[in-house]
Amino acid sequence: MRKPLIAGNWKMNKTAAEAAAFGEEIRPLVADVEAVEMVICPPFTALHALGARLRGSRIGLGAQNMHEAPHGAYTGEVSAAMLKEAGCGYVILGHSERRRLMGETDEQVNAKVKAALAAGLRPIVCVGESLEQRRAGETEDVVVGQVRAALRDVPQDAAAGIVIAYEPVWAIGTGETPTPDDANQVAAVIRSTLAGLFGEEAAAQVRIQYGGSVNADNIASFAAQPHIDGALVGGASLAPDSFARIVRNTEAILA
Ligand code: 13P
Repeated sequence: MRKPLIAGNWKMNKTAAEAAAFGEEIRPLVADVEAVEMVICPPFTALHALGARLRGSRIGLGAQNMHEAPHGAYTGEVSAAMLKEAGCGYVILGHSERRRLMGETDEQVNAKVKAALAAGLRPIVCVGESLEQRRAGETEDVVVGQVRAALRDVPQDAAAGIVIAYEPVWAIGTGETPTPDDANQVAAVIRSTLAGLFGEEAAAQVRIQYGGSVNADNIASFAAQPHIDGALVGGASLAPDSFARIVRNTEAILA
């Protein structure tokens, strides 16, 4: 049985002071949640302040990116060990904004996944097709290619710690989404790709999230799908009440 994971990707939003205020507000709202795992991924500069407010709660901490090298002359970058020390359990890798705006390649995402796993961080690997690719009927090919490339040479015993976030690029921040059934079909293709790489048993343990315009009103329809195990949430994760409602509506479908 896979435990759903609701992860908030704050992107470049919230100062450390704003993150601390969120931390204080969210705690009582989800204090009794057990069946859903929760993670917030703030900007690097807010990790410490948010981590301090979340200590002792069931809400985990994650980062939005990292460099694949352990240390060195990489101005502006941070390593997996630095994130681990800052209290992160997860790191988002290969988000479409980084692929598109920062030119991140499949090869880099693969190197980051391996470095994250080696440091004991769980990667949330983002994959998803653009609108052009969807219109051209390439969705499955694109997603399968991204999954295979990101997980190249990842050992089978690391598979269960990996999370895949299926985020169609055209659904991010647009208010548009695929139908839940559509998203589930892509998640099923991702799972069979994982089975090809790691075997059925390991693939059955990997959590596959849906991401793209998720909110408290639509989360249940996605989370109820058999191959979808929670969500990676952008805009709707920024307000404590909204994030808490997404978590609660996910928990409700498990009951
Ligand atoms: P929105 O939820 O704001 O559409 O963003 C999705 C996303 O990119 C999460 O990583």
